[in-house]
Amino acid sequence: MTSDGSLQKADFGTIYDQPDPRAYFLTLEPFDYVIPQHGAELFARLLQARGTAQARRSRILDVCCSYGVVATLMKTTLDLAAVYAHYRDATEQALTSEQLVDVDRGLLQEHPEPGSPTVIGLDVAPRAVGYALATGALDAGVAENLEVNAPSAELCALMSEVDLITTTGGVGYVTERTFDRLLDVAPESVWVAAFCLRTYDYGPIIETLSTHGLQTERLPQTFPQRRFTGPEEERWAVAEVRKRRLDPAGKEAEGYYHAEFYLSRPASEVEQQPLAQLLPE
Ligand SMILES: C[S@@+](CC[C@H](N)C(=O)[O-])C[C@H]1O[C@@H](n2cnc3c(N)ncnc32)[C@H](O)[C@@H]1O
Repeated sequence: MTSDGSLQKADFGTIYDQPDPRAYFLTLEPFDYVIPQHGAELFARLLQARGTAQARRSRILDVCCSYGVVATLMKTTLDLAAVYAHYRDATEQALTSEQLVDVDRGLLQEHPEPGSPTVIGLDVAPRAVGYALATGALDAGVAENLEVNAPSAELCALMSEVDLITTTGGVGYVTERTFDRLLDVAPESVWVAAFCLRTYDYGPIIETLSTHGLQTERLPQTFPQRRFTGPEEERWAVAEVRKRRLDPAGKEAEGYYHAEFYLSRPASEVEQQPLAQLLPE
């Protein structure tokens, strides 16, 4: 709750830019934070369906990449449950952040996922991006805020061969401003795959992407993101989805944030193969 008594989404800002990811995972596990797992699985299916992986290593830009959470899941055979267990153990062992970097680098090398993509990370948090670069979760990464600034020359160069822009848990922090700036410097063939909480309106991003020639489709099902931190957050979320004329029954009313999945592609590709055919159930 804010100081004026109004309700809002819980603020996890303090765990987003620590020297290592322990606080992130230890804080979010009790709330069953699972959206990076849904993201990693769906993004891998998309790359496979797109077929770039057959010709060369696919290249992803993960927006709001944090400590390389989605990158770790995509580049290894580990699932999120294993990652949570790993950081619980690392916390008990009281390793320094420097020691944990070495352990994590080893973990990533021990469990490689064959044919996994190159992952570039973008996040406003420099220590999180730095950690993910040091462990090898990210192949490249920048700490920038495209809500405020134009992309750096480094980011523009990295964007030139990106196949897929992804985000989990990012929309709300980033808006159409960030996507507009990324699309200005991305190849025309780029796809954008985003999970957006039902409490937020993805409409402005859809409009912006359409000005860059991308058409957006949504999967019919929703994906649980995490449990609410308590009844106040639940009241806020239920009210927000009702404002958006969505029914919270079976979703937010059961105590969970739910996200929708949107895919934006060049209009000709959507016409040729709609999302329902691209990702059959
Ligand atoms: C809920 S976390 C999601 C992290 C990760 N994608 C996941 O699914 O676990 C939100 C992330 O957004 C980042 N963030 C907040 N504002 C941002 C901005 N303007 N540009 C880029 N990243 C931002 C935070 O630093 C944090 O890492």
